[in-house]
Amino acid sequence: MTILVTGGAGFIGSNFVLDWLATSSEPVVTLDALTYAGNLNNLKSLESDARHSFVRGSIGDTALVARLLRSHDVRAVINFAAESHVDRSISGPAPFFETNVMGTLGLLEAVRGYFAQRSDFRFLHVSTDEVYGTLERDEPAFAETNPYRPNSPYAASKASSDHLVRAYRETYGLPVLVTNCSNNYGPLQFPEKLIPLMIHNALAGKALPVYGDGLQVRDWLYVGDHCSALRRVLEAGSLGETYNVGGNNQKTNIEVVRALCALLDRKRPKADGTSYAGQITHVTDRPGHDRRYAIDACKIERELGWSPAEAFESGLEKTVDWYLANENWVADVTSGAYREWVARQYG
Ligand code: NAD
Ligand code: TYD
Repeated sequence: MTILVTGGAGFIGSNFVLDWLATSSEPVVTLDALTYAGNLNNLKSLESDARHSFVRGSIGDTALVARLLRSHDVRAVINFAAESHVDRSISGPAPFFETNVMGTLGLLEAVRGYFAQRSDFRFLHVSTDEVYGTLERDEPAFAETNPYRPNSPYAASKASSDHLVRAYRETYGLPVLVTNCSNNYGPLQFPEKLIPLMIHNALAGKALPVYGDGLQVRDWLYVGDHCSALRRVLEAGSLGETYNVGGNNQKTNIEVVRALCALLDRKRPKADGTSYAGQITHVTDRPGHDRRYAIDACKIERELGWSPAEAFESGLEKTVDWYLANENWVADVTSGAYREWVARQYG
C-alpha cells in the first residue's frame, strides 16, 4: 500500500513526508509541481530511499494523477498542493484559483474514477482556518460549525476547494476528510511567511516589516504537531467530517516578532551590541487583513485524542535554531540557482 502526497515538496508537505517515512514503512509518492514554493532539497535525505518516489506534475493533471493512483495502488491521498501565501493572492489572485480550485477539481476527478477500487481508500484535504474569516477580540474561537466567510483571495480559493471536496462526498460518495488548521511554523518554511521572513531579514540587517499596528492575532501551531494531527485524522477520522486543528497559542504579530528578536539577540548577537528589535518597522497594513484567528480544537481532541505536543516557546526556539543552522537552505530557495536547476532537470 502507498500514500500519495500532493504538494509534498512544500513546507508542511515535506515535513509530513519526512515524518511519515521516519515512523512508517508504507511507501510515499510525492506529486509536486515545484512552483517557487516547492523545493526538492527538502526531500534530499530520501534520495536513495526506495520507499519514496517523486513525480513532478500538477494536481490538475487528471490523467497523470489517475495513472499514479493505479500504478502505485494508492490507498490514500493527502492534498497539500496549493498556492498558499495571502500577500501573493492579493497582488495576483488568478494562480490561486487555477491551483486551489481548478487543480483540486482535477485531482478529485482522478480520485472519482479510482476510489471504488479500494474499499479502504481515503482522501484527506488539508485546508486552513482562514476560510472562517476574522474574529473580534472577544469572540469564541472557530469551531467546525462556523460559517465560511473568507476575506482574502487565498482564503476564498481554499474555501472553494473545501466546498468542492464536500460536494464530491455528497454527490459521488468520495471518502473524504477535511482539516482546517491555524498558522504553522517550523523548519522548511519559505521565507515569505511571517516567522522565517523575520528571521531572514533580521540576519540580513533589513527592516522587519510589521503590518499596521502589529496587534493582529494568529494561533500558532508547530508543523510537527500539524503532521501528527493529519496522521491521526487519516487513520481514525470519520469520513465526511471536518476537523479543526490548532495550537492554542494566540499571539499578536508584534509579540512573535519581539520573541524572535530576543532569541536572535541571545543566539546570534549583533556585532554592534544593539537588539534586532531596532529593525522593527511598522508598514502599511495588508488590505482586508484579518484581525484575529483562533481555533477551537476540542473536536479532534475529544474524538481522536489528538492535542499539540510543542509549546510555542520551545517550538519557536527550535525554529530559530533550524534557520541559523540552515542559512544555505534559505539562500538556495531565494536565489535563482535552484530555479535554474529545476528548469534544467524538468524543462
Ligand atoms: P507551500 O506553499 O509551502 O507548499 C505548497 C506546495 O504545493 C509547493 O511544494 C508547490 O510546489 C506545490 N504546488 C503548487 N501548485 C501545485 C500544483 N498545481 N500541483 C502540484 N503541486 C503544486 O504551502 P504550505 O504552507 O506547505 O501549505 C500546504 C497546505 O496546507 C496548503 O494547502 C495550505 O493551504 C494549507 N495550510 C497551510 C498553513 C500554513 O500555515 N502554512 C496553515 C493551514 C493550512
Ligand atoms: P503570514 O505568515 O503571511 O500568514 P497569514 O497571512 O496566512 O496569517 O502572516 C502572519 C501574520 O503576520 C499576518 O497577520 C500578517 C503578518 N505579517 C506581517 O506583519 N509582516 C509580514 O512581512 C508578513 C509576511 C506577515
